[in-house]
Amino acid sequence: MDRVSLDVNGCFGLPAGGLERGDLDAAAPAARAAWQAFEARRRAGEVGFADAPRDRAAAATVAKVARDLAERFENLVVLGIGGSSLGGRALVSALAHPYQAILPRERRGALRVFFPDNADPATFEALLGAIDLAETCFATVTRSGETPETMAQHLALRERCVARFGEAGYRERCVAVTGPEGGALRRIAGEEGLRWLPVPAAVGGRFSALTAVGLLPAACAGADVAALLDGAASLESRCRTGELRENPALLYAAVLHLLDARRGRRIDVLMPYADALRDLGDWFVQLWAESLGKTPAAGPTPFRAVGATDQHASLQLMMEGPEDKVVTFVRVKQPRADLSLQVPPGYRRFPEIAYLDGHTLGELLDAERRATEAALRRAGRPTVSIELPRLDARALGELIMLLELAAAYAGGLYGVNAFDQPGVEAGKRYAQGLLGRPGFEAARDELLARAPPDPALVLG
Ligand code: PA5
Repeated sequence: MDRVSLDVNGCFGLPAGGLERGDLDAAAPAARAAWQAFEARRRAGEVGFADAPRDRAAAATVAKVARDLAERFENLVVLGIGGSSLGGRALVSALAHPYQAILPRERRGALRVFFPDNADPATFEALLGAIDLAETCFATVTRSGETPETMAQHLALRERCVARFGEAGYRERCVAVTGPEGGALRRIAGEEGLRWLPVPAAVGGRFSALTAVGLLPAACAGADVAALLDGAASLESRCRTGELRENPALLYAAVLHLLDARRGRRIDVLMPYADALRDLGDWFVQLWAESLGKTPAAGPTPFRAVGATDQHASLQLMMEGPEDKVVTFVRVKQPRADLSLQVPPGYRRFPEIAYLDGHTLGELLDAERRATEAALRRAGRPTVSIELPRLDARALGELIMLLELAAAYAGGLYGVNAFDQPGVEAGKRYAQGLLGRPGFEAARDELLARAPPDPALVLG
């Protein structure tokens, strides 16, 4: 099958702690209700991510801006945090050359793309010191248009660009990717004459990977944006039913929710066997945590691992630790490249190594995955398997849409609104209060009113 597939067999027929077929039948009405609730919000225009891949006019504008930047610059620095960074970073690391930052232009064929993400002055300053600003453009990505980490980085980069290249040089280097509402960055973009790419009003940060937020960095890194959107749209078409056994994202959400609610499997591990999907794991953690971790339910805890690397780290915990996890394996059937292994005559007397002769690195990685999956199963631990025919833009678009829709349906199953993030907003308010933003005094006072630390509990 030349499309992304989901296999939940590994959650059934376990000695204990797995699911029975009857569990799925019993969960079908709640799953259908979650699907219907999501579809109603979508029809009402409240939630837009599932329709974003069909907005080809927006994608064409992004591709045009990316082409223009690629003609004039060598580096793109993406200023953004959370959903305004993780999706783009996942796309770029999945689709661009893994060592794009050190390749010359003729081998890269695209811009180098950097995601400083955090407002850590040490790494940000190091990045600005390492790249040539004359060859650098930047995208300031913030849906709200006011996130302090992002706007602080924008201020720093703006100042350097204006000092070195003047207002016009700053203007040609900066693209604002921000919401269409009246946020500060949107107004600044208008006043300063910056190029502006809109984040659609009904698409929240962690669901925005397939809008300008993720597509601009992906296109600048040379990704096939149209194929990404084709993949996402085709997966979304497969999910236009509330029938649990036909809708892959609904089945995934329902199985994980059942395993949590009925079997105490409260930790959802995503474990791709591909380095290129490592950053997708970070994006998944944010998608799951911010969408589902809220009152009234506690929500599952997401965890990311990478095979085979984590077989030598967290796998021990998954295999024999608390029986509270479900591991989703992501397999890429056809690796982009492979290396054949030859054992030289002098090594053949070592049976510990000789068996590798004639195999490939890809076969080794795949055998590691199969073995780990089977071993977890033998240990009674539930597993899910997602297979990509190959790691290209189309399959990645499918995978992203699968996980986004699963998060949306899981919100319904857990009884939470998957599309808000009150905890994140509270943190932003406190930080802005501490830094003296007018109107945020109450948040600052609330924070400072806490009891002072007990010196007996501080050592040093
Ligand atoms: O998913 C979310 O909504 C958040 O993680 C935001 O993306 C993050 O807080 C950054 O917000 P903004 O895009 O407004 O700068």
